Amino acid sequence: MTATIGNAMKPLHTNRLILRNWEDRDRDLFFRINSDERVMEFFPFRRNRTEADAKLSEMRDDIERKGFGFAAAEIAAIGECIGFVGLTRTDHLPFLPEGTIEIGWRLVPEFWGHGYVSEASRAWLAFGFDTLGSDEIVSFAVRDNRRSTAVMERIGMTADPTRDFDHPGVPESHPHLRPHAFYSLKRRDWEEQKRAAN
Ligand SMILES: CC(C)(COP(=O)(O)OP(=O)(O)OC[C@H]1O[C@@H](n2cnc3c(N)ncnc32)[C@H](O)[C@@H]1OP(=O)(O)O)[C@@H](O)C(=O)NCCC(=O)NCCS
Repeated sequence: MTATIGNAMKPLHTNRLILRNWEDRDRDLFFRINSDERVMEFFPFRRNRTEADAKLSEMRDDIERKGFGFAAAEIAAIGECIGFVGLTRTDHLPFLPEGTIEIGWRLVPEFWGHGYVSEASRAWLAFGFDTLGSDEIVSFAVRDNRRSTAVMERIGMTADPTRDFDHPGVPESHPHLRPHAFYSLKRRDWEEQKRAAN
């Protein structure tokens, strides 16, 4: 069961980050994370500036309506957005039933390797389980996207190869990007990990 929040997103604060809705000042950065070849290595599309601007506006409205989404991650000390980390509802039938809550991320390369995504993800997991009342949060990535599956493992998610799938949104023209590794974190395991950490 997943609750609807139904109001504007309240920023989440972590040690180093502010997780918040998109703003117009993020547009250059958002274009970069939709067009940079390193960032988009495992995606079958690139967005030009016009498409990226439209997507940012769409995501901002969606987050405004729902109270969460793939939200901007800003380094508090420098006031600069470095990419996104967040939760979204997803459904790719028959692999992901309606109402599935996915955690996802994308940063500009100069901020990889500092633990920012793991830090933000822990805040989003707490939001998903505590505020949304989710029973399970999932994530998936192109099988070769080791940097992404490493984040999943770092934040306590478990691979479930029985749920691996060929992503239906990836065109036949990119066969190497179709096979996806599936990870999940169940509420009971998240609570157990929290207890063990305290
Ligand atoms: C996938 C992606 C988000 C991972 O970013 P990341 O910075 O490696 O992720 P984390 O925040 O977990 O950082 C972990 C790294 O920071 C290091 N680190 C430094 N300080 C740290 C800290 N305080 N806490 C945790 N890790 C820390 C870790 O050792 C690790 O380094 P390593 O990669 O050399 O092993 C990034 O590579 C990316 O944006 N890729 C392109 C987009 C993409 O593929 N998105 C996913 C689609 S499914």
